[in-house]
Amino acid sequence: MQWPQVKGTLLLSPHNDQQEEKALVHAARLLREGNLVAFPTETVYGLGASALNPVAVAGIFKAKGRPADNPLIVHIAGIEQAYALAREIPPEASLLARYFWPGPLTMVLPKRQIVPDITTAGLSSVALRVPSHPLALKLIRAADMPIAAPSANISGSPSPTTAAHVLADLAGRIAAVLDGGPCSVGLESTVISLLSSPPALLRPGWVTQEMVERVLKRHILDLSNLGSSEGSQEPPPSPGMKYRHYAPKAPLFLVEGEGEPQRRQLLALTEGLAMQGRKLGLLLSEESKNYFSAPVKEILGSRNDPATVARRLFYALRRMDYQKVEVIVAEGFEEKELGKAVMNRLRKAAATIIRPDGKGGFSWIRG
Ligand code: TXA
Ligand code: MG
Repeated sequence: MQWPQVKGTLLLSPHNDQQEEKALVHAARLLREGNLVAFPTETVYGLGASALNPVAVAGIFKAKGRPADNPLIVHIAGIEQAYALAREIPPEASLLARYFWPGPLTMVLPKRQIVPDITTAGLSSVALRVPSHPLALKLIRAADMPIAAPSANISGSPSPTTAAHVLADLAGRIAAVLDGGPCSVGLESTVISLLSSPPALLRPGWVTQEMVERVLKRHILDLSNLGSSEGSQEPPPSPGMKYRHYAPKAPLFLVEGEGEPQRRQLLALTEGLAMQGRKLGLLLSEESKNYFSAPVKEILGSRNDPATVARRLFYALRRMDYQKVEVIVAEGFEEKELGKAVMNRLRKAAATIIRPDGKGGFSWIRG
């Protein structure tokens, strides 16, 4: 089977079962030989390498331009594989695994020595996840090893939700990308640390804090906002939290709040920016789309449908780059349940956040 190549990176894009089998065999061999292979998960595309091979893992950091102090998530095919990587799997971890694996939940656990330091950026813990995308599971099984995989983007840019996004960032830097179509969740997994009691939310995602608390029958800590602001005194519990992320090339203004005040603020800002003559891109809800005009508009979904907003968000941020907009204005969404993950990513993408000040006005905050 001849697969197409982009700058030397193989595009393994199977269209039937037989091709899928061939693509998986090829991708698994590349991984076993220490190469980098991007693959689909239900959240975003991952950039995979053998988690136990330090040289292969070093390749991930190099290809992405990722800071060496930001640890990777290790992907496994089932909880049975977790025992070989984690020194201890507390009962609450087994319980969460029963409810949410395979699926978009990552658990931080004490690591065993077999996991190389480079994979965990020197931490004594390891982040584990069983993805639910069938191709991801088949690939882990075919390669027959745990796969370290951060999101398959250049560090700092929006996470990729299609194989085309991966190629746009990494063609020529990785051996292959396995194409499984667009990702269904669209935002990275929820990260929960089980090193503390109660456990702590480090990154919000599709599995919400409320869902985890319902299963554990107790409150967990929300540390997902700690250490995220520049100059913060707290060391971030998850090194990835301190980096600006998901940012398109143009500066993004995020207007938080709701209802009429938010709409008036959006209007004032978009009109002001349009007058400066800069090419403007808007990220809006279904409900607001007819109130504003701009050369580029991306509709994320209804304010009542955060799952759709989540699925489209990174795609829409990338569209802003493709359309070469010079400045972006984004509508903020309600921060509840899955909306928390959406707002977490939007804030990390924002250069400026415009937030209700509680006194009827808005304050401007550097993102
Ligand atoms: O959905 C996802 O999680 C995707 C797909 C590919 O599985 N992966 C992903 O990886 O988003 P990445 O590298 O972009 O984000 C991993 C996050 C970072 O914030 C990192 O700091 C945190 O997980 N992390 C990894 N290992 C950790 C550890 N031992 N302790 C605390 N945080 C950890
Ligand atoms: Mg990432």
